[in-house]
Amino acid sequence: METARVEEVVGEFVNLRKRGVNMIGLCPFHNEKTPSFTVSPPKGIFKCFGCGKAGNAVNFVMEHEHYTYPEALRYIARKYNIEIEEEEQTPEQIQDLNEKESLYAVSTFAQKFFTDQLFHTEEGKAIGLSYFKSRDLREHTIEQFQLGYSPDSWDAFTRHAFDNGFKQDYLVKSGMCIEKNGKTFDRFNARVIFPIHNLSGRVIGFGGRILKSDEKKAKYINSPESDIYNKSQVLYGLYFAKNAIIKKDNCFLVEGYTDVISLFQAGFENVVASSGTSLTTDQIRLIKRYTPNITILYDGDEAGLKASFRGIDMILEQGMNVKIVMFPQGEDPDSFVRSHRSMEVEEFLHSGARDFIQFKTNILLQDAKNDPVKKAGLIKEIVQSISVIPDQIMRSVYVKECSVMMEMAEQTLMNELNKMLRKKLRQQNLQEFDGDFIEIPSTTVEKQVDINLNDTEYQERDVIRLLLNYGNDEIDAEQEDENGALITIKTTVAGLITNDLKHDEITFSNSTYQKIFDDYADLLENEEILPNERYFINHPNKKVSSTAIDLLTSPYELSDNWETVARIEVLTETRRLKAAVESSILSFKAKKIEQLIAGNQQKLKEAEQSENYEILSEILKRQQELKNISKLINNKLGRVITR
Ligand code: CTP
Ligand code: MN
Repeated sequence: METARVEEVVGEFVNLRKRGVNMIGLCPFHNEKTPSFTVSPPKGIFKCFGCGKAGNAVNFVMEHEHYTYPEALRYIARKYNIEIEEEEQTPEQIQDLNEKESLYAVSTFAQKFFTDQLFHTEEGKAIGLSYFKSRDLREHTIEQFQLGYSPDSWDAFTRHAFDNGFKQDYLVKSGMCIEKNGKTFDRFNARVIFPIHNLSGRVIGFGGRILKSDEKKAKYINSPESDIYNKSQVLYGLYFAKNAIIKKDNCFLVEGYTDVISLFQAGFENVVASSGTSLTTDQIRLIKRYTPNITILYDGDEAGLKASFRGIDMILEQGMNVKIVMFPQGEDPDSFVRSHRSMEVEEFLHSGARDFIQFKTNILLQDAKNDPVKKAGLIKEIVQSISVIPDQIMRSVYVKECSVMMEMAEQTLMNELNKMLRKKLRQQNLQEFDGDFIEIPSTTVEKQVDINLNDTEYQERDVIRLLLNYGNDEIDAEQEDENGALITIKTTVAGLITNDLKHDEITFSNSTYQKIFDDYADLLENEEILPNERYFINHPNKKVSSTAIDLLTSPYELSDNWETVARIEVLTETRRLKAAVESSILSFKAKKIEQLIAGNQQKLKEAEQSENYEILSEILKRQQELKNISKLINNKLGRVITR
């Protein structure tokens, strides 16, 4: 944590420019044209004021590379040549690891089992390996994709896993085993196995293909979702394809496992599959990290393609360029690759690729032919696709092209487009600016705090914010000496806050704030390390660290324009620090008293109803006391009480 410099770690993925003490760049986690992604080297954190993502160097790597915490640490350790000692673990130790790590362990173990079955058993060789070979897969490819074979048995894997000390709990959670009527058995049997990898190359799930065609059984069985396998965020083959995608600046999108492997083997390595499900926004964003260009290799019929038009709009919406290649009837990418020479495939993929908007216009035009009513509907259809494209210049280029193809005045299409954009604008709360559209990032304006009369959240947050931001700053405080005379002593913001709240035995309702407060107070007392920003930003408790990051980057300090307006505000707050701390503490107390008064009021009502006069007077007395304290605090706060 001390060695890793956030700007260096982030800088590997994001182009950062200096701005004051901070650095800015385009956020890698959401779409934006003007940078709102900020890195603060002194604090060791990043924060995007557009999408709200924030954290330290480790969090960044986890988020960006989809790494687990240990994976992110290993990555950073490698970067800084820090050696991590890792022992080879026994199955017993593996069980002790956290849940996710255990699921990874099960998946890796299963992959090794299936691969071993494929290459080293008679059944595997005779059935599995010969099947792959009959599909023209070379041994090197089979090894690279870690393909395997699950034997024709109901519990071969399960027994092997139990023998090696794996616990049933994780075998079931990973989806490798199924439990029914007290028995545990294999999910996959008598199938060839395709492991699914995450971005760092770890196995997170499997697909298993049946070998004989059997109407009654599903052609593929897939792992269910688990803590490590979120289907909407995974693309089959991406781990192997990512470098080629960057190099070719294009990504081929196919449907099946076998299509990916065949194309890859033939030298078209920039290929991924959606694995038979419809594409999700997360999957599109995954591709977009590496390239803005997608070529969809489509092997269905025209009707099926028309049905997927809406899904393709989702890709356009991400600002990506979409092309389509239609395969000849009865061919899919896998069969095409196997029946053609590399050069022919290359030529076909290159010259067969049609821009999606042009392609869609063409197909719909064929339908509409000379039917004017259909043609009117067609305009809407096409313009709908154009309207989702974020880039204004791209939109006008398409309008021009389509007007030619449709033999229609450009202005007609433009009018329709503007109508749709205006509608969308109203829906999405966007603002028009100079004829183009700029987005208002939702979190630049601080999230509205729900003000609930019985809730001290706002006041608690303010106290903790001051503690974290200015805890070590020196201020003067008044104290009574032995004779009751007021004297001025030097203390820190943290000293003032912790002494005061502890003295009055005030606690926080928000347990994370309480934890920060307690930790801070403990550190002050022990005087071993000075509690600082980094201590809380890198705190092992995730809630503490994310709260600290949030409070340490409150908008007036790290906002888009903190250079100008905000800088002044920070200064004035520092100068007014003492007043700010005192009023923050008083506001917190005032709110607490309000809560007590409300509670007492309730008791009063109940006592009156039950005509319990003995306690009634006691409650009234207490009510008077509370009101006096409230008056005292509010006077100090300089407020006038009207109630
Ligand atoms: N699929 C699935 N379950 C099925 C059928 C298909 O999960 N019952 C998914 C698989 O990811 C498969 C993809 O959809 O790879 C495409 O299906 P299909 O074209 O039928 O399979 P191919 O991968 O082409 O397999 P093959 O060439 O061996 O027939
Ligand atoms: Mn196929």
